[in-house]
Amino acid sequence: MRKLTSNKLVLASHNKGKLEEFSALFKPYDIEVVLAGDLGLPEPEETGVTFEENAVLKAKAASLATDLPALADDSGLCVNALDGAPGVYSARYAINPTTNQRDFEYGMEKLHKEIGENADRSAYFVSVLALVWPDGHVETVEGRCVGDIIWPPRHGQGGFGYDPCFQPLGHDKTFAEDAVYKEKVAHRHKAFAELIEQCLPL
Ligand code: IMP
Repeated sequence: MRKLTSNKLVLASHNKGKLEEFSALFKPYDIEVVLAGDLGLPEPEETGVTFEENAVLKAKAASLATDLPALADDSGLCVNALDGAPGVYSARYAINPTTNQRDFEYGMEKLHKEIGENADRSAYFVSVLALVWPDGHVETVEGRCVGDIIWPPRHGQGGFGYDPCFQPLGHDKTFAEDAVYKEKVAHRHKAFAELIEQCLPL
């Protein structure tokens, strides 16, 4: 795998929350992270049918526009009883047709209804990170976290998206109820640990 030697990279996202999360993760490695949205770059349409395709197309667009290495993540929730749905469509799945807004209370209830009487409530979160260099070189890593869809959702203090209805395997709290535990086992953190191991010089 190619090593990242630049001390600056673009995060191919418009999400300030992701900037904070990745800036903190890269800080010990002395790498400055700038947000594509803050540079005025447009957000490419996520036309891929896999997490990897979407992560790569976002990172490629940002790297091409800035001439810097670019990092993108694509993530989602896959439910086994639904053949892996909503998967890459996790964000779109939560759009409430009444308001045309993303609404995770609506999305979680839709999941619960679609699973129905199926005894298999197992699911997993996936995060794929793509690192793309200006010469077009691509590296990708993936992290997963397995668990169950629980009902009703339990919110607790933190979390976002589908966190209140996801309970990681071997734990009795949802991701929303236990953010400290989430940090240790979550998909994005596993993918990031893999990226550091593979792409950062020792
Ligand atoms: P994207 O990776 O920004 O395209 O977002 C994918 C969608 O997956 C998010 O809008 C959330 O719905 C869902 N998702 C991804 N990671 C998590 C997580 O850690 N907790 C809850 N929901 C998540």
